[in-house]
Amino acid sequence: MKVVITGGGGFIGRKLAHKILERGELTGPSGQREAVTEVVLFDAVAPPDGEFTDERVRAVVGDITDAGLVASVIDGDTNSVFHLAAVVSAGAEADFDLGYQVNLDGTRNVFQAARAANGVPRVVFASSLAVYGGEVPDTVGDQTPITPETSYGAQKVMGEFLITDYSRKGYLDGRAMRLPTIVVRPGKPNKAASGFASGIVREPLNGVDMACPVTPESRMAIMSPRTVVECFMHMHELDAEKLGASRAILLSGFSVSMGDAAAAVNAVETNRARGKITFKVDPATQAIVDGWPKTTYSDKAGALGFPSDSNIEDVIAAYIEDELD
Ligand SMILES: NC(=O)c1ccc[n+]([C@@H]2O[C@H](COP(=O)([O-])OP(=O)(O)OC[C@H]3O[C@@H](n4cnc5c(N)ncnc54)[C@H](O)[C@@H]3O)[C@@H](O)[C@H]2O)c1
Repeated sequence: MKVVITGGGGFIGRKLAHKILERGELTGPSGQREAVTEVVLFDAVAPPDGEFTDERVRAVVGDITDAGLVASVIDGDTNSVFHLAAVVSAGAEADFDLGYQVNLDGTRNVFQAARAANGVPRVVFASSLAVYGGEVPDTVGDQTPITPETSYGAQKVMGEFLITDYSRKGYLDGRAMRLPTIVVRPGKPNKAASGFASGIVREPLNGVDMACPVTPESRMAIMSPRTVVECFMHMHELDAEKLGASRAILLSGFSVSMGDAAAAVNAVETNRARGKITFKVDPATQAIVDGWPKTTYSDKAGALGFPSDSNIEDVIAAYIEDELD
């Protein structure tokens, strides 16, 4: 099977690639598990040198707004696409045109290329909680209306609708997942407005002081990288008919306050130098975060077997094991 991961040079895309290589098989055109023979990491940036030594991996550096290039990468032989490339939240808000070019036009390039493939590829699209906005309830659930209030959120809704419509027409076998904030993001922060939720764990454990821009009481819905990768795998394998009329599903993210996250970081037993956490409220960031759900809970995702996390201590332990030890 040939698998393409757009955004395959990014945070989740790279972790997903490792998981696919480790499993070695996915449900293919036959409807049975088939061996993965090629994993293409398509991204504007290459993965770090030496991270992928597996012969099945090929990195293609390029722009998803280039329809010709996308069609050459997602070619007739492609069986599965994980579409993760995106200009993330604050980036799409800061540059309206770039956001639409990449997150809408680029997404359409990906779906059009998948449509032209031989067979009907499975396409898994990374959506976001940013599809919700306005008077968001503290707990977002399956019945919460879609009311995006950012360009990024609007672009993710459009991606979901395209997935459902292309699937209805039989052009591809699409699925979309609304991800909570994924914590802990290793390395450098990206332009996501939620970046501090990873920073509050990552920076102190790497010996760097962290000024959290929201109050200790501020709560967010989060999921770990390990769990979101499992959700991508599960979503790919699922019989998509089970999703119903909409091919999009909400993932369940547990609620954590930044104060509790800080306490859990400070409670980690380590002999590494630990950075200090302070709270220095930035009113603009606080206003954004106050508009976000405090938790997300999907009965449907639970019934369909999607995993979720339950506490910040386990998320921190997994970060230490995967990234620091
Ligand atoms: N990480 C989260 O907390 C989170 C939450 C909700 C949704 N998501 C979604 O999940 C997906 C992956 O997120 P991530 O955290 O890995 O982000 P990331 O920024 O690490 O990865 C996104 C990748 O897309 C690539 N990209 C951007 N523009 C491109 C272009 N024009 N052509 C080709 N590649 C381009 C970037 O180079 C980057 O490597 C994104 O679609 C994001 O919107 C992530």
